[in-house]
Amino acid sequence: MDPKEPLILLIVSGSVAAYKALELVRRLREQAFGVQVILTAGAQRFVTPLSFQALSGREVKTELFDLGSEAKIGHIDLARKADLILVAPATADLMAKAALGLADDYASTLLLATQSPQLWAPAMNHAMWSHPATQQNAATLKTRGATIVGPDSGDLACGEEGPGRLTSTENILAALQSMTAAKGPLSGKQVLVTAGPTREKIDAARYISNHSSGKMGFALAQAAQALGAQVTLVTGPVALSTPPGVQRVDVVTAQEMMEAVLQHFETSDLTIKCAAVGDYRLKNPVDTKLKKAEDFSLDLTLNEDILARLGQLKREDQVLVGFAAETGDLAHWAHSKRQRKAADWIVANDVSLADTGFDGDQNQVLVAHEKGEFELGPMAKSELARQLLTRLLEDPKLGPKLRQN
Ligand code: PMT
Repeated sequence: MDPKEPLILLIVSGSVAAYKALELVRRLREQAFGVQVILTAGAQRFVTPLSFQALSGREVKTELFDLGSEAKIGHIDLARKADLILVAPATADLMAKAALGLADDYASTLLLATQSPQLWAPAMNHAMWSHPATQQNAATLKTRGATIVGPDSGDLACGEEGPGRLTSTENILAALQSMTAAKGPLSGKQVLVTAGPTREKIDAARYISNHSSGKMGFALAQAAQALGAQVTLVTGPVALSTPPGVQRVDVVTAQEMMEAVLQHFETSDLTIKCAAVGDYRLKNPVDTKLKKAEDFSLDLTLNEDILARLGQLKREDQVLVGFAAETGDLAHWAHSKRQRKAADWIVANDVSLADTGFDGDQNQVLVAHEKGEFELGPMAKSELARQLLTRLLEDPKLGPKLRQN
């Protein structure tokens, strides 16, 4: 599997649920999968190639006997290159063709030619799904190694009720993630990521915090999971949904984050401390609401530095990466923090710039390592997360500690 952009072939067949495949393409692209869409003739009655092309960024395949794109037998080439074939929605007709080994259009020919793992998400009338012929075809596909996700029960487009609804995008993505992760270079490895801000209580109504949205840390957790790792994500309060397949631990204060991180650190092969941990907490927080006053001051004390503590505990076989929020002179501060906190890498970002660091969808970083530094970005946080992990895997000293044995 290409860790940079695994290729998913998405076959959309002719069901009312075909429009839901557009959302699938968008979500797969967000998760940094390359998506090549194939529309059957039936699918084209419900959705247009143009919409899929716009979302996937690739020309949609529809015709087996296309003189241009098929000059080099493109469907065979695609069948070989695919990291996974996703059929969503899958009709009873296409399942029957695949089970029988028929090959009379682009989708069925590709399914016969490929040796890549297959994930099928059926959608059809409940009687068609329950019919012994379809059940037997589903069983045949499973026997040959395909995974089938859904269908769900509920109201169907035909006005009837029962099993036949295309399962949710979340379910399809979760199934796909676990299939692609099993082949990734980080499979069998434990990755611990921290994300988001911490909050320190002042009184019953107020707290001290910072601008971290959690996006960078969540992107790292998702990228590590996609590369096959078992990921634990310790996060402060954020408004983000958990990436499929990632184990999430919610915390609020720096002290809670420290406890959660220490619980998972020993078994972690790679720890990435992306959270913006509060440096200070109140000496004496109160449970009532403090009254407004002309003269108001807070008595603060330092929180323990979690990253520095991990730097002391770190074994030779573990990899430790910290982030650093800076407002200038990135290389100087990144190297100084790397040494002080005994991290393998410090990834520094400039949080004084409008489009990097806190909250936005983009980031730009300078990575300080043992031998010097390199820069990445500006780019989407999802892309940056993947590139950082790829660079870690390629690092001559750190990569061998992380790559699947
Ligand atoms: O969440 P987003 O909106 O996507 O924004 C991303 C980010 C800007 C928060 C992220 O890219 C980032 O820079 N995270 C680190 C923020 C930070 O706390 O930087 P720092 O320079 O104050 O700390 C350096 C390192 O020490 C960090 O790894 C931090 O987690 C760690 N630290 C700091 C204090 C403390 N008490 N314990 C720690 O472990």
